[in-house]
Amino acid sequence: MGFALALLVGLVLALVAAALAGALILNPRSAPHLAGSGNVDPDTVSGFGREWQKFTHGAEALSERERADAFRSYFDIFPWHLIGRDGVGADVGCGSGRWAVLVAPRVGRLLACDPSAEALAVARANLAGLGNVEFHQADAGNLPIADASLDFAYCLGVLHHIPDPARALCDIARKLKPGAPLLVYIYYAFDNRPRWYRLLWRASNGARLAIARLPYRLQVATTASIALLVYWPLARAGALLDRIGALPRGWPLAYYRHRSFYYMRTDSFDRFCTRLEHRFTRAAIERMLAQAGCGQIVFSSHEPFWCAAAIREPAGCS
Ligand SMILES: C[S@@+](CC[C@H](N)C(=O)[O-])C[C@H]1O[C@@H](n2cnc3c(N)ncnc32)[C@H](O)[C@@H]1O
Repeated sequence: MGFALALLVGLVLALVAAALAGALILNPRSAPHLAGSGNVDPDTVSGFGREWQKFTHGAEALSERERADAFRSYFDIFPWHLIGRDGVGADVGCGSGRWAVLVAPRVGRLLACDPSAEALAVARANLAGLGNVEFHQADAGNLPIADASLDFAYCLGVLHHIPDPARALCDIARKLKPGAPLLVYIYYAFDNRPRWYRLLWRASNGARLAIARLPYRLQVATTASIALLVYWPLARAGALLDRIGALPRGWPLAYYRHRSFYYMRTDSFDRFCTRLEHRFTRAAIERMLAQAGCGQIVFSSHEPFWCAAAIREPAGCS
């Protein structure tokens, strides 16, 4: 309970500081025009470009063990058995390419796509040793891929940052062959959490709206402070409780209990510096996947929520 209070106090302090700074220092942040499908938020994309330039998630920054552990938290529901060694797939919104590093060696060809030129430059560096990755500056709505041609696709942490997520999901699903699997990770609406958790999120969302408007250096400093004062103590307390078998269900930020401080700083930046964020219940994601022509939907039972694997049905997007 003490930690929950610390979380609340930390967030309120961050919110006040950010709101004051935001009011004093206007940050119009003129994002470059992005040629593409139009289903893109340019501010969000340029923010991610800067995020991946700072937190590259390269081999020097993220240990093999931590990458593999985080990778499993997304991919453990992915039906790998449906993909041959020569399978061709896409990482839509690849960012730094941190998951492509582990996917590319298992498949024939991987198309790493992201609308951010800066993110793609980081992905290129991280994937330099892998000859079967192609890079495309493209958003989900203008993927340079023929319809019904992919053996698999994944889109992690992306759809909730797109103006029309349902349209983007259809655009991705359309690229899959019937029977091909799709993995998505979409921010949850805390539909599996108690009311107090949702209230906590409301406070933190206020902080996000303010912090996302700060100048970049202040964003880095504020989110590093949140990582230090909120993520780290809660995560490490969670690890301790876990070790003695007393971790309560729904312990805030338990997902980070075995993560490094670097990972926490990245996610704190990611979480609080993005202007456009949608949240979905599990039922809404299920509907959206069904509308995109995907069936056999399986949800992961652990964090991060919601992660879902589905299969493209012959009829496709409705
Ligand atoms: C939170 S990051 C996730 C990156 C990567 N999937 C991961 O899990 O590490 C979101 C990424 O989506 C990209 N993005 C934003 N809008 C997009 C769109 N409309 N289509 C595809 N990608 C987009 C951003 O540039 C950013 O790299």
